[in-house]
Amino acid sequence: MKRLISLCAMFAMFALMYAQNIRNFTPGQIWKDTKGVHINAHGGGMLLHKNTYYWFGEHKVEGGIGNTAQVGVHCYSSKDLYNWVDEGIALQVSDDSISDIQRGCILERPKVIYNSRTKKFVMWFHLELKGKGYTSARAGIAVADKVTGPYTFVCSTRATPGSYPVNVKELSTDTKKLFVRDLNGGQMVRDQQLFVDDDGKAYHIFASEDNSTLHIAELTDTYLGYTGKYVRVFENRYMEAPAIFKKDGLYYFVGSGCTGWAPNAARSAAAPSIWGPWVELGNPCVGEGADKTFQSQSTYILPVQGMKNAFIYMGDRWTPSNPIDGRYVWLPIQFEENKFEIEWQDEWNLDFFRR
Ligand code: GAL
Repeated sequence: MKRLISLCAMFAMFALMYAQNIRNFTPGQIWKDTKGVHINAHGGGMLLHKNTYYWFGEHKVEGGIGNTAQVGVHCYSSKDLYNWVDEGIALQVSDDSISDIQRGCILERPKVIYNSRTKKFVMWFHLELKGKGYTSARAGIAVADKVTGPYTFVCSTRATPGSYPVNVKELSTDTKKLFVRDLNGGQMVRDQQLFVDDDGKAYHIFASEDNSTLHIAELTDTYLGYTGKYVRVFENRYMEAPAIFKKDGLYYFVGSGCTGWAPNAARSAAAPSIWGPWVELGNPCVGEGADKTFQSQSTYILPVQGMKNAFIYMGDRWTPSNPIDGRYVWLPIQFEENKFEIEWQDEWNLDFFRR
């Protein structure tokens, strides 16, 4: 009987531990899923589907090897943005040596969007073929019928082969070299983002031309490829980690400088159209730690459902010596006229937007 009672007590203790109800964001701290395991979705993005948020990100493992893809893309779901259910691996790396997404490749910054026309979930990510460092600079594309997957790898590609940008006249002589080098084979794709506009058109935003210049490229109606229409933006500014959001008809951009895993000062910009002109607004971060984006790098800007002017900056605090320990820095975006600010918070919740 005694044994039974202590077993019951243990069970109750575990149940309590697992049923923890998180009510605040604590940027930079360990963030446990509903099973009590630190969330493993780095360089992530978010999809809101049927009133549930789905967080997709790089599954990292321990040690230096964790900077390559050993598992795939991890998915979590949540109704409230604080408590996350582990939905498992949405896209698995492959053990087939001829696959582009062979275990040991570099698969970064996955983003998923839903195509209401084809009823498919479409994932894009930055792909570096196994054993080639960061020289492949390709976009990977995968597709699924169900939001949590399994996602099937479709192909990998360079961007917009053979196409000239809409703003071709702005091509300066010093960047022409890189651009022309990749014109026929396709432009480089490194840090990347997807953005779906109100009219359902989707765009791929990525660091290109050896990271010197970002491209914004329109996707086809299926979201599985490029139409060939694109612009080059922030020429020679070496911007990475791009994220785009839209508020009151204006487009906003958040990104970083180009210093690898080490944090640097964030960048921001605004434009009246996705095609530009993009005007830089400087570092959106304010206060102590602003010069290093509070030890983080942007990965996504999340519009909060059902709240006006509520956008969350999602960033990664990378730990390349032990990637699985990477932390998440989520902070509220605060608007000032036509620009915005990001300020550190030790702890906060969505009530912030009701103030
Ligand atoms: C960062 C980039 C990461 C990863 C890293 C590798 O600048 O944002 O996604 O590619 O470099 O050093």
